[in-house]
Amino acid sequence: MDKAEKGALFTAVVFLLTFFGLLVYAAKGMNIDVPTCITDVKPFTEGKVIKLSDNRYEIHYLAYMWGFDPADVEIPAGSTVDIYLTSKDVIHGFQIQPNTNVNLMAIPGTVSYARVKFDKPGVYHIVCHEYCGIGHQDMSTKIIVK
Ligand code: CUA
Repeated sequence: MDKAEKGALFTAVVFLLTFFGLLVYAAKGMNIDVPTCITDVKPFTEGKVIKLSDNRYEIHYLAYMWGFDPADVEIPAGSTVDIYLTSKDVIHGFQIQPNTNVNLMAIPGTVSYARVKFDKPGVYHIVCHEYCGIGHQDMSTKIIVK
């Protein structure tokens, strides 16, 4: 092997070791957080309806293939509802019809939010409007306002 070749090889190895050492050093110095899945954290461990007062509610929806948890929810007319939404698998849509303009996306790892006031009694349908697999067209639930 030529002397210059040896020198170049030696330099390359020194650089490699230096950069690797720096990487390890930097990783040690950083506080690396292992991301937790939002569906492992309360209240998204299960779909939940939380009654805050007589006409204030929180609903934590978990979208999945192919449905919403909680399923049908009943609330009194005149209620204001904070809706929190996430997905435990793929991206889903979330639209409440009729008489509301709520249109959210259920995205794994994030929480979507909307506040709705349900004045008129009736059945409000929630449908998934993002194609999410073979069960997509059946993915729906209801909010029943009495
Ligand atoms: Cu969920 Cu389409």
